[in-house]
Amino acid sequence: MMSIRSVVAGCGHYLPAKTLTNNDLSKIVDTNDEWISTRTGIRARHIVETETTSDLAANAAKMALANAKISAEDLDLVVLATITPDYSTPATALVVAEKVGVKSGVPAFDISAACSGFVYALTLADNMIKLGQVKNALVIGAETLSKVTDWTDRGTCVLFGDGAGAVVLQAKETNDTIGILSTKIFADCKHTTELRTSGGTSTTQSPGFIIMEGKEVFKYAVNALAEGANKAIELANLTINDIDWLIPHQANIRIIDGTAQRMGVDKSKVIVNIENVGNTSAASIPLALSQNIEQGKIQKGQTIVITAMGAGFTWGGAAIKI
Ligand code: UT7
Repeated sequence: MMSIRSVVAGCGHYLPAKTLTNNDLSKIVDTNDEWISTRTGIRARHIVETETTSDLAANAAKMALANAKISAEDLDLVVLATITPDYSTPATALVVAEKVGVKSGVPAFDISAACSGFVYALTLADNMIKLGQVKNALVIGAETLSKVTDWTDRGTCVLFGDGAGAVVLQAKETNDTIGILSTKIFADCKHTTELRTSGGTSTTQSPGFIIMEGKEVFKYAVNALAEGANKAIELANLTINDIDWLIPHQANIRIIDGTAQRMGVDKSKVIVNIENVGNTSAASIPLALSQNIEQGKIQKGQTIVITAMGAGFTWGGAAIKI
């Protein structure tokens, strides 16, 4: 039966030029390359100098639009997932819309769901497309986590990086099982303190810095990432064997390996870019997706499953036929 599907028409990404290696960090806090790389899998991360979240997002968006072969004027929705917006208001999505040339009247807003933000944003855009409300949606994950990093805390400052990834979703009326096959998002309000910022507009009048109970988050993450992915696979009526690629949120290589092991997915099918970018929160999945499509690793016709977990706690997954 013909139905409206959300097809991935193009992806894009952007990383700020400056990199910070583990050795650079060892000059700022009491750490070393050996500890960081064996405990996290991270060797370097990109850090903004003067750019803002909207700058990174706009660059990723322009690449996604070019790859989708559409103009910003064709867009009728902009959703941006971030926990590091340019301002409290207006939404950074609007600043990005202005930078890329989106028409007046097109809805643009931010989603705050930490590292799961992109999965949340994709879920929302997909459903608006399936309802027939939207034809071309720009879905972005972008962060400048370096702005909310406590550079004196070795337990967190070694983990995070800045970056952006974007996807153009397009409505297509088709009989084929393509595009977004399933989405599922979750949250657990019993865990609002284990990973959060130390401030906020209504508390300290400043965003503060990321504070984290690393071990607690770690334990929750493997279960949540596996659940997000497994639920997406089940809802898409697929089995693990149908999956060409798993793209887990890039938080820690040990969490990624643990998730794949729990799911019974071979390591060779797991997309990993944490070594060079660290944890970029909402940007993590669209960044990895775009880089791997550009490199030719992820190819048209393949089925991927994305899964994320972050502060809140929030988590969720999606199955996508590229
Ligand atoms: O995006 C989603 C949210 N984030 C995550 O998913 C992150 C989840 N958590 C983690 O990835 C890990 O818990 C960390 C990487 C943050 C920490 O790894 P860990 O294996 O849990 O280490 P730990 O916190 O138990 O610390 C072990 C030791 C401690 O020293 P003592 O007490 O054993 O003497 C720490 O003080 O390592 C020490 N340590 C460090 N040493 C060198 C902590 N950070 C560092 C560091 N360099 N950067």
